[in-house]
Amino acid sequence: MEKLLITGPTSLKGEVEISGAKNAAVAILPATLLIDGVCTIKNLPNISDVKISCEILEALGAKITWIDKNSITVDSRHITTTQAPLNLTSKFRASYYIIGAMLGRMGKVQVAMPGGCQLGARPIDQHVKGFEALGAEVSIEKGQINASAKKLTGNSVYMDIVSVGATINIMLSSVLAEGTTIIDNAAKEPHIVDVANFLNTMGADIRGAGTDIIKINGVEKLNGNATYCVVPDQIEAGTFMLAAVASKGDILIKNCITKHLESITAKIIEVGGNVEDYGDSIRVWNNERPKHATIKTLPYPGFPTDLQPQMGVVLSLADGTSIIDESIWDSRFQYTDELNKMGSKINAQGSRAFFEGVPQLEGAPVYSTDLRAGAALIIAGIVANGETQIYNLEHIDRGYENIEEKFRKLGANIKRVNE
Ligand code: EPZ
Repeated sequence: MEKLLITGPTSLKGEVEISGAKNAAVAILPATLLIDGVCTIKNLPNISDVKISCEILEALGAKITWIDKNSITVDSRHITTTQAPLNLTSKFRASYYIIGAMLGRMGKVQVAMPGGCQLGARPIDQHVKGFEALGAEVSIEKGQINASAKKLTGNSVYMDIVSVGATINIMLSSVLAEGTTIIDNAAKEPHIVDVANFLNTMGADIRGAGTDIIKINGVEKLNGNATYCVVPDQIEAGTFMLAAVASKGDILIKNCITKHLESITAKIIEVGGNVEDYGDSIRVWNNERPKHATIKTLPYPGFPTDLQPQMGVVLSLADGTSIIDESIWDSRFQYTDELNKMGSKINAQGSRAFFEGVPQLEGAPVYSTDLRAGAALIIAGIVANGETQIYNLEHIDRGYENIEEKFRKLGANIKRVNE
């Protein structure tokens, strides 16, 4: 079994290049199934979720050629089946995008219920509401989702809850539908805009992505014959910003869109950190113990739930008592048990966690419970006194490209070893 060995404390200093956004890539790849042609995608993060997505596309009949570790061409002119491989689609959450894309292209699909990070209940009722509004029939039997539609017709869909996945999935299933679809109360995350930009580049007609009303005018077909570059990862950039604050370091985060980072920047300044915004890169530095703060996770542009555990490390070291209110997921505080093994004093109760700041963490063996918890534990290991071992690295490898290499270049004493 692999584990990360980290010896701290280290103040992280230097520059880091941000990779393409995981949550854009895992939607753009299924979206290629809508294209009756060939397309090229660049700036894909080299992570296991991307690799699994490509395997699913190939199992459905798409031809994928790797140009380099971050770029591919996809030829989806010949889709040969509507049964997505159960062993692959059950592995991660974003496999539900196969439903929207295959419904849109083929009018039929069977996919395993999605897996992914254990964050509590992860229903897909809003996805199903959208598919049925467009005329599809959806059933869930024996852990498998069956969806079919003789014809998809544009309709208006009001989202009962702001959902990234459902917003993207309804977009995917409507680009080739007859007529116009309106998604009201849509999610506004940067990766949603990126998926819409990708589809428009390939011939779709989507307007308003990034606002809470998205209008999709159905088109005959998507021709592809274009190249698209995935947006930089807002969550990876925020992870390194918060690592700079927690480690009292000084990091220049390059190849990011600072507009996407405004909520993180605001909180970093509030806890006493310093930020210099250069538009496509951002410098974060800190010399003091962080001040306490109150955080409520919200849909974009609010503070992102995917940076909640990383912010938890900063608050566990802050001067005073802090509160995090996790409004998106009903079980995203498992990492606090692991931080408490390292000397933090966190009391998680339901959707809230109370942090009594401590001056220093101590290294310990800890277990990554999900992708972003794993990133938080890496930051904790870097700032802690002594040695930390982090297990369950498969969670981390799903969403961060070369994370230990990137932290090592910033001065961290970190290495991956086989136990
Ligand atoms: C996406 O998950 C991300 N995953 C998550 O990131 C992220 O935490 C989440 O959006 C919120 O930003 C991917 O993009 C692959 P939602 P998703 O639908 O789409 C409820 C990471 O670390 N809901 O926006 O599954 C749901 O239970 C991962 O990169 C319904 O009730 O999230 C949650 O409370 C973890 N019914 C809320 O909405 C539905 O049909 C938001 O979920 C759908 C969602």
